[in-house]
Amino acid sequence: MSPRDGAGWNLALTPATSTAGQAPNGRCGMPLILPSAFSRRQFLQAGIACAFATLSRPVHADEPPAAHDGLTTTLRPGKARVRMVGEEYPETEVWAYNGAEPGPVLRVRQGAPFRAKVENGLTETTTVHCHGIRLPNAVDGVPNLTQKPIKPGERFDYAFTPPDAGTFWYHSHDDSLIQMGRGLAGPLIVEEPDPPQVDRELLWTVQDWRLTGDTQIAPGFNNRMEAAMDGRVGNTVTINGRVPDAVRVRAGERIRLRLLNAAIARIMALRFEGHRPMIVALDGQPCEPHEPPDGRILLGPAMRADVMLDMQGEPGRSYRVVDDFYDRLAYTLVQLEYDKASPVRPHPSDAPLRLPANPVPHLDLKTASMHEVQLQGGMMGGMGMGGGMMGMGGKAAWAINGQSMTGDGSPGMPPLFEIARGRSCILDMRNDTAWWHPMHLHGHSFQVLDRDGKPEPHDVWGDTVLVRPRERVRVAFVADNPGDWMFHCHVMEHQVGGLMTIIRVT
Ligand code: C2O
Ligand code: CU
Ligand code: CU
Repeated sequence: MSPRDGAGWNLALTPATSTAGQAPNGRCGMPLILPSAFSRRQFLQAGIACAFATLSRPVHADEPPAAHDGLTTTLRPGKARVRMVGEEYPETEVWAYNGAEPGPVLRVRQGAPFRAKVENGLTETTTVHCHGIRLPNAVDGVPNLTQKPIKPGERFDYAFTPPDAGTFWYHSHDDSLIQMGRGLAGPLIVEEPDPPQVDRELLWTVQDWRLTGDTQIAPGFNNRMEAAMDGRVGNTVTINGRVPDAVRVRAGERIRLRLLNAAIARIMALRFEGHRPMIVALDGQPCEPHEPPDGRILLGPAMRADVMLDMQGEPGRSYRVVDDFYDRLAYTLVQLEYDKASPVRPHPSDAPLRLPANPVPHLDLKTASMHEVQLQGGMMGGMGMGGGMMGMGGKAAWAINGQSMTGDGSPGMPPLFEIARGRSCILDMRNDTAWWHPMHLHGHSFQVLDRDGKPEPHDVWGDTVLVRPRERVRVAFVADNPGDWMFHCHVMEHQVGGLMTIIRVT
């Protein structure tokens, strides 16, 4: 039976290695809601608007009608109901920007002033953080640290000029485990003045949800046990707000795929069956074009990859995109479904892959200041939480250098260290825990220097680096942006549970 003939949605994982519907339940006994069957109707959801025409401007099926002109926009966080799974299931209540899940795609121009007016339609305070953008501290969106949280019914303007082109995103930074966990996030694309030559561009904002049987967001955020482990990994993965079915492609075309992991905890390792994706940027920052190690694109929460995909599959065939990060929980995220038509060109495109460089400041590693950062806590090898508690009261399960800053931001958080403006600095991170941590720095882009002493190839820069259990990772950046900047793990329970600190640039 072809999956396309099926009618309903299967409340079961689609295993990567066998036919649909045979996998056991997901963690915590929750059913996994992933597509094993789909209808034509859902076809549009994975990001294709206009079948195979070469588009002068990228179009996204989910991109709402021009809510803005690239210069200003209004974002209204509030409650909304969205169709996330299939037609047979109830709509899911989410917290969303402008009623859209994920929030509207903000497309802004590199080097042009941009303003987002945020009107709080929630019943609690909020802020908006533009993740990865090297912007002024006053518009960084960290509650109590860089601004007063926006009260219900009130407004705050975020105005900045993005220096770097690339794939970024925005999300709530207040009550952030809950607000992001309920959906307050969206993509922010800074367009190159001179974009690379491709046939089409796709944007996949990938989110992970824990849904109940009636497709509502399950309560119980910040479960103590999970918070001390790998966080709230859900049972439903969406692309652009929908459980995806297939993405239609045409043989021979070159697609620029922007991938954003907007999950609060789920790490993803994406394999494109039968294809050789080339990574050309990570976290918005161009790198040497390269194939991912082992063919797996590894993205922790908050991380992005720009990938060039030459569609070299056979016309009429389908290929799976598989996420096999968690050992026994591999699943098919989506299918690439080839049109029957013959290839659009006889040979793969030979247009250059490299993206134009961004104006990130040059490192001076010889004079760089060195800072040791120890990531601590969490559940350790089955010994219970005791060893991981760092002697902290309350909910702290994690710490950095023995200190736990919990929640989302508070006034007068003491900086871990200060750096003189303009100085290069190296963060020498040691993960003393048994868990993975996507460590994120605000306001700067850093270069990943090495892992366990092994130089990182491909000139990788970013704002979030995925640190493996027990791994030592060194990153370096020029502290050219004055202010108090958050540095935290982007697994949201880890952040609010103490894996967070402040770096002050004076
Ligand atoms: Cu996207 Cu403080 O983070
Ligand atoms: Cu950020
Ligand atoms: Cu973490």
